[in-house]
Amino acid sequence: MADKKAQLIIEGAAPVELPILTGTVGPDVIDVRSLTATGRFTFDPGFMSTASCESKITYIDGDNGILLHRGYPIEQLAEKSDYLETCYLLLNGELPTAEQKAQFVSTVKNHTMVHEQLKTFFNGFRRDAHPMAVMCGVVGALSAFYHDSLDINNPQHREISAIRLVAKMPTLAAMVYKYSMGQPMMYPRNDLTYAENFLHMMFNTPCEIKPISPVLANAMDKIFILHADHEQNASTSTVRLAGSSGANPFACIAAGIAALWGPAHGGANEAVLTMLDEIGDVSNIDKYIAKAKDKNDPFKLMGFGHRVYKNRDPRATVMKQTCDEVLKELGITNDPQLKLAMRLEEIALTDPYFIERSLYPNVDFYSGIILKAIGIPTSMFTVIFALARTVGWISHWKEMLSSPYKIGRPRQLYTGYESRDITKLEDRK
Ligand code: SDX
Repeated sequence: MADKKAQLIIEGAAPVELPILTGTVGPDVIDVRSLTATGRFTFDPGFMSTASCESKITYIDGDNGILLHRGYPIEQLAEKSDYLETCYLLLNGELPTAEQKAQFVSTVKNHTMVHEQLKTFFNGFRRDAHPMAVMCGVVGALSAFYHDSLDINNPQHREISAIRLVAKMPTLAAMVYKYSMGQPMMYPRNDLTYAENFLHMMFNTPCEIKPISPVLANAMDKIFILHADHEQNASTSTVRLAGSSGANPFACIAAGIAALWGPAHGGANEAVLTMLDEIGDVSNIDKYIAKAKDKNDPFKLMGFGHRVYKNRDPRATVMKQTCDEVLKELGITNDPQLKLAMRLEEIALTDPYFIERSLYPNVDFYSGIILKAIGIPTSMFTVIFALARTVGWISHWKEMLSSPYKIGRPRQLYTGYESRDITKLEDRK
């Protein structure tokens, strides 16, 4: 942190000196904490230019399309690591040694089952409930089962809660899917990898246990890595805010799942497939590009644009490569939705409207096509995102609680009525 200063000149008041803080990489920040002494606040709806915290977990360089997890580029993690190793890195700050990795994998495997009574919890939902609605409910309900690890001030409790959440999310996600299908829920197996286990619980039944395709398991693992964490996005900020009140980790993650559900955020992967279905044919692309540009039309090109990336989202690049691998493995040579998506990308990226606003495909643009090819229904796409992002959420939650913090409580610019007296009901006009 450097000792540079900013000076704020307020008409009719003494200048205010504000420290400028410098990180390892990335933009400096102006520390405005002392501004309250002037009786004023900063005003920044949507946090367009506000840093909410200091963090060492993930760094995004939006102008250059760079994403680092604890300093490691996402491309290297996707190519040379695996999801559980990435989880260890995000949670602990360093890649594990072979011994540490074996221990971590074994610990996670031994926490993949959920309390048997949680099964009955599902019966309260309609079978056709949106899977994200069920996920919000069952993950929040975990705090009703694990009373032995809810003391957020106890590092051991924080550790076991993190492990339980990473381990149980695939089991819960698969249970949500099986419940919607009216099929028996499958127990996790300790002889499978994390991604293989998820696909096993999703697509096998007690009647038939099919071997899991290594290519599909590898693609699933890569999708988990690409969604693992992403700085202070809306859902991670929600988890931090919920955690700052002292809420238990399961309630905080349920809050993150709720925030992720929105189509402007994690719900975009489901919305991309819905949009591609609505466009239907390449001949309709121009009409929808025009709708996306029309300020009077709420339609946006789903899977395009990002608050931070003003260059290609590096995850979209890896996702597209994975998409090609999976479709090739499955012998899907001319997937109509992939062809439509690629043509849409081509046209959008030559259109001045998108170029001027640096609107590129983001992580959600191609992920849905892969998930659909693997056999995952569209309504489960954001559940997959939540499954993968849980490690990012809980890493930020742990980081926040590991050093002094205050409850998050933004202020406001009030433009409502000044104080006024109530008139009697009979006198109101
Ligand atoms: C994720 O934050 C994260 O890191 C999120 C995430 C993660 O890993 O956690 O990366 C995951 O949420 C990815 C984003 C998924 N969402 C979508 O694909 C939905 C479509 N995208 C848009 O809703 C939008 O791009 C956002 C929400 C992603 C970003 O919105 P911003 O930063 O608030 O930008 P903006 O809405 O102010 O857009 C700037 C301009 C506007 O036009 P002008 O007012 O300048 O004329 O670009 C336009 C917008 O209208 N614009 C779009 C557009 N996205 C932005 N126009 C058409 N189609 C789009 N997709």
